[in-house]
Amino acid sequence: MFRYLTAGESHGPGLTVIVEGIPAGVLLTEQYIASQLGRRQQGYGRGGRMKIETDYAVVQGGVRLGETLGSPVAMWIENKDFANWTQAMSPAPPDGEVDRKENTRVVPGHADFPGALKYLAHDMRNVLERSSARETAARVAAGAVAMAFLDEFGIEIHSQVASIGNVNSDVSQDADWDAVENSDVRSGDPDVAQKFREAIDEAKANRTTVGGVFQVVATGVPVGLGSHIQWDRKLDGRISQAMMSINAVKGVEIGRGFENTRRPGHDIQDIVVPNRDDSRRFSRTSNEAGGIEGGMSNGEPIVTYVAIKPIATMTRPLPSVDINTGEVIEAPYHRSDVCQVPPACVVGEAMMALVLAHAMLEKFGGDHILEVKRNVAGYIDSHREFGTSV
Ligand SMILES: Cc1cc2nc3c(=O)[nH]c(=O)nc-3n(C[C@H](O)[C@H](O)[C@H](O)COP(=O)(O)O)c2cc1C
Repeated sequence: MFRYLTAGESHGPGLTVIVEGIPAGVLLTEQYIASQLGRRQQGYGRGGRMKIETDYAVVQGGVRLGETLGSPVAMWIENKDFANWTQAMSPAPPDGEVDRKENTRVVPGHADFPGALKYLAHDMRNVLERSSARETAARVAAGAVAMAFLDEFGIEIHSQVASIGNVNSDVSQDADWDAVENSDVRSGDPDVAQKFREAIDEAKANRTTVGGVFQVVATGVPVGLGSHIQWDRKLDGRISQAMMSINAVKGVEIGRGFENTRRPGHDIQDIVVPNRDDSRRFSRTSNEAGGIEGGMSNGEPIVTYVAIKPIATMTRPLPSVDINTGEVIEAPYHRSDVCQVPPACVVGEAMMALVLAHAMLEKFGGDHILEVKRNVAGYIDSHREFGTSV
């Protein structure tokens, strides 16, 4: 069984990640995980916290001499900022009076209000420390382990920004990914990238925040991951849940789900044609479905669009309340990003990798990577036999 868990608070000592179910024999290094973590820390419009942290996941289990062992991969990411919070975030009981850095003023749009009532937290720091997107660093580390596994099968995952505020980019599943990677707003089009930056600058000047939509694309995914037979086995449902679980994400499309509702049915289906060069013996003339039909991957690139809301913490505060006194006050401002869409792309890639690694292992399970590869090869061969008359 493939599973993963993260733990840790935003200003606590650090983040812990355990990924279980990755087979033995997968090449994995701390340097590779660090390269993925570094990508999450970049992006135009990020706040001061990213200048403090240089995320590095120390591998504490499951890897020996650069190869996974089949045992749980355990990782630890230190929070450098903890040095400024040793009293307030200490796990030990307080020794006399301590500065708790208490937070009683609600930020609308954050986990503060529901979390305070659910966990009876008079100090909402108890809630916001975990609901903070700092946790997404742990997911990117877990995602890097999943990506190292997927890489063994030539499965690649990329992402780019499709819109920021009202500025749209005409993105496709075949972007120039190197150009995207070199852009601080994750756009391969320099003109659009400049407009994205201007939208972020404008939000900053107005002391507000700006959201957007990003696209995640997975290529090389074999046909048949997920299943139509039960609701919780559908791959599109699983990807949507994973994307929706990213902080501030409020919408997910597989393919151009929303836009396609405005087009006639004839324009949005992907015609199947015989193709002896394709291991499936068939291919498609388009990919409107975003690579998934009936809850199963169909062998085309998996394409998803993810809508992420503007950040709730703003330098121009909204009216709010003190959760303990009921007093009407201004929402507090804590050091914060103006636009988190570019780094969220990298989190989206990690979530896609985790879902696909899980689905691959479900279908082709094995304890060593060679066993999984053999299972994949046997399955692909069965399609050759299946399509011999094509
Ligand atoms: C990469 C990333 C960075 C984020 N940075 C911030 C931030 O600096 N300030 C903030 O208030 N929210 C930030 N968020 C969003 C909050 O974590 C999120 O809105 C909050 O936890 C409430 O949850 P919800 O919006 O999913 O309902 C960020 C989200 C992501 C994905």
